[in-house]
Amino acid sequence: MSCPVTGLGADRAEPFERDAEGAVQLFGAAYVQDPYRVFQHLTRNGQVHRVRFPSGVNAWLVTGADAAAELLQHPDIRKNHDVGNPRWRAKASIMPEPQHTRLQSHLLHQDGEVHARMRKLILPAFSARAATELEGRIADHADQLIDGFPDSGGLDLVPEYMALLPFRVLSLAIGLPPRLADGFDPAWGKVVQPVGPDDPWRPEYERLLRELEAYIAEVVADAARPERSGLLARLVRAQAAGSLSADQLSSLVFQLLVAGQEPVTHQLSTSMLALLQHPEARADFVSRPEARSLWIDELIRYDGAFALATWRFFTVDTDFRGTRIPAGDSVIVALNAANRDLPGGDRLDFGGRSESVAQLKSSRQRRSSHFGFSAGPHYCPGAALARSQLAWGLGRLFDRLEGLALDSSAEPPSWIAAVLTRGLKSLPVSYRELRR
Ligand code: HEM
Repeated sequence: MSCPVTGLGADRAEPFERDAEGAVQLFGAAYVQDPYRVFQHLTRNGQVHRVRFPSGVNAWLVTGADAAAELLQHPDIRKNHDVGNPRWRAKASIMPEPQHTRLQSHLLHQDGEVHARMRKLILPAFSARAATELEGRIADHADQLIDGFPDSGGLDLVPEYMALLPFRVLSLAIGLPPRLADGFDPAWGKVVQPVGPDDPWRPEYERLLRELEAYIAEVVADAARPERSGLLARLVRAQAAGSLSADQLSSLVFQLLVAGQEPVTHQLSTSMLALLQHPEARADFVSRPEARSLWIDELIRYDGAFALATWRFFTVDTDFRGTRIPAGDSVIVALNAANRDLPGGDRLDFGGRSESVAQLKSSRQRRSSHFGFSAGPHYCPGAALARSQLAWGLGRLFDRLEGLALDSSAEPPSWIAAVLTRGLKSLPVSYRELRR
């Protein structure tokens, strides 16, 4: 048994650095390139670990599958930042007021009855049925982007396809008109990583915040027009009827715009890389369209875009899996570590290659129970939409690009230097011919 703080004892060769207090440093090129070595080592030595983020914030990282499931459903766990203690608050770069209230009162920062009420308003737009109904249009948007590719040769799939498709699909799903969709600047998503008052980047950060708020006000004004329908229009009406405050409305709009695209972009890239690197998985994915949705869940389990879940806090000092966690300390679930602790481990294989379509359907439920979309009250409401986009987004590329492969003449794919999310900066591919 090892020490829960230093981790020393069971296995001394550690693939990470520790700070002076023994906290595991969750950053650096080695971590970004292969976090799974770090996760595997941690899980072998316990399920709760003291870690430090690049911002200097300390947290308790939960890595094992059993512990992740328990933590995500724990009755004393909260998401509201107000539950964070002064020690966490001093280091966590919380967005300044008044923007924090206007942009950060969304679902991931709410608990209990308020959370349930807000969540109920958005769920119908993201049902499995709604996602299935959108599939034809998702395929059309994928095809339109692929139509713009060269007839043969290669390109970088991240900027030319994976960064573009999710926002188009999201706009359809929430009822964002094309004129406004065209005006969205992806750089606005960066405001969730706020910077301190003395940071040289601060003026730029404040400019992004101002622009984003002006854009959200425009989206809300447009959705209030009587002829508008769709989720955004329904949210505006809910606010007029008193079911949402103005801050909750602007914050939900912000959350939908950001949460609904970046993880899909990243998941498209990690999943495509995994398929290109695993010929047997790829062959099955390409030849059996009926098995694609199962492959999508396995690809998310194998290398998920949401590597670590967001902040959580215990309301009371809690003994969790042998570690005393003080109330208000930040606790983070390493979703990707928990996923590799499930059956299947480090292998990319959902184990259903010889199953018939009927067998595949009956076992779908079992296969979709991974942590890639989290678990418990904050389980990703966009999961069905994301699955459809991934199946069609990846499927159309394989169906139309003959001889699709990693471009051996280009720089190898590079990972974004983020701790919470996992995705590729670039994914250069080559192909013999584009099927028109
Ligand atoms: C592959 C793509 C996606 C992945 C991997 C993903 C993953 C996640 C995860 C892990 C969480 C919970 C985080 C936590 O527990 O701390 C979450 C929450 C959320 N996601 Fe997704 N997501 C994806 C796509 C989408 C899409 C397309 C939407 C549509 C708008 C969406 C909307 C949301 C919202 C609103 C929440 C907050 C839910 C709540 O707090 O109740 N996501 N997502």
